[in-house]
Amino acid sequence: MLFLLRQFEKTMDTISKILEQSSFSHSDLEQLLLCVGDEKSLLFKKSSDIKTLFVGNKVYFRGLIEFSNVCDKDCYYCGIRNSNLFVRRYNLTDGEILDAARFADENRFGSIVLQSGENCSPAFADRITNLLKQIKQLSKGKLGISLSVGEQSESVYRRWFEAGAHRYLLRIETSNQALFHKIHPDDLHHDFNRRMDCLHALKAIGYQTGTGVMIGLPFQTISDLANDLLFFQQFGIDMVGMGPYIEHSDTPLYAFRDQLLSLQERFDLSLKMIAILRVLMKDINIAAATALQAIDPLGREKGIKVGANIIMPNVTPGLYRNDYSLYENKPCVDEEPAQCKGCLDARVALANGEICYEEWGDSIHFMKRKKGE
Ligand code: 5AD
Ligand code: FES
Repeated sequence: MLFLLRQFEKTMDTISKILEQSSFSHSDLEQLLLCVGDEKSLLFKKSSDIKTLFVGNKVYFRGLIEFSNVCDKDCYYCGIRNSNLFVRRYNLTDGEILDAARFADENRFGSIVLQSGENCSPAFADRITNLLKQIKQLSKGKLGISLSVGEQSESVYRRWFEAGAHRYLLRIETSNQALFHKIHPDDLHHDFNRRMDCLHALKAIGYQTGTGVMIGLPFQTISDLANDLLFFQQFGIDMVGMGPYIEHSDTPLYAFRDQLLSLQERFDLSLKMIAILRVLMKDINIAAATALQAIDPLGREKGIKVGANIIMPNVTPGLYRNDYSLYENKPCVDEEPAQCKGCLDARVALANGEICYEEWGDSIHFMKRKKGE
């Protein structure tokens, strides 16, 4: 990818012409991904204008509760993979999860995300069902709830939907099936087609469906990223969360760290992915991923500026945050939820955004889809 990134030099003219188009070919997207300097500024100006026009400057909060780092899977890039014996595993009690949800509600966050490692046991499915009902009850129906707990059966997804979850995040990680299989073990538990089936099931059940990819993975090309953008569009996704891949020393992919773009280049490419996606899919929700902030202290704010409209402040009790290390340098691991909130108010204002409290901030794309527009 290093080579490809430096391969192209396009004129301002070409980029501004592409940005005026109403649809984009794979080659257009590659050119946008490779733009630099004034061309990049042009792209960011366009994506920022489109965001203001189509979804406004409001930024919605999703209080993130990372309630367990126990994971049955073994993804080659992830710090909490099952085989990583250095991880201190934790599982919040129901009481701790409900307290975190209450914190989000009392601080008028509007929505929460329940996230954990993957667990497909019937007991886990029951536990989530009960938690969903209790969170709906404690917030008097006010808190919107997204789930991000991996691949599950269609019937489990349906049960959770009926119990009150209305959004689901399941990253495809990469839309290139061959690359997917390079970054995951070669077994039935890590199957590209199954992941895709899950996304289709979620959409059919009626969830606002979110996915995403990692940017700057070893073996990934600019062409792959252009295909990721086309995949989001063709699938008709409602929400996207994507961010830079950050190597973790206790994972197998660490062996390929020499082949990576620099952290700054991965960061830059992630901002361009957000901006181009905003131009491509004007009315979806796009999250400014926490991984952006692991590289640049103002990473999430920069994401907001170029097109993202969602931030997921961590409301997991501070005690456990260090142990949910998907990648190294994860920011804010030493803070308590209340500190996070104060910090974010100031940060979003810096990015010309306006935090919108108490509203769900549903994806406009989803609402139109529901109405059949
Ligand atoms: N770098 C960046 N993102 C990662 N994730 C997991 N490991 C890493 C890493 N090393 C992301 C994956 C996953 C999400 C929960 O976190 O995209 O879906
Ligand atoms: Fe847990 Fe990938 S390691 S889902």
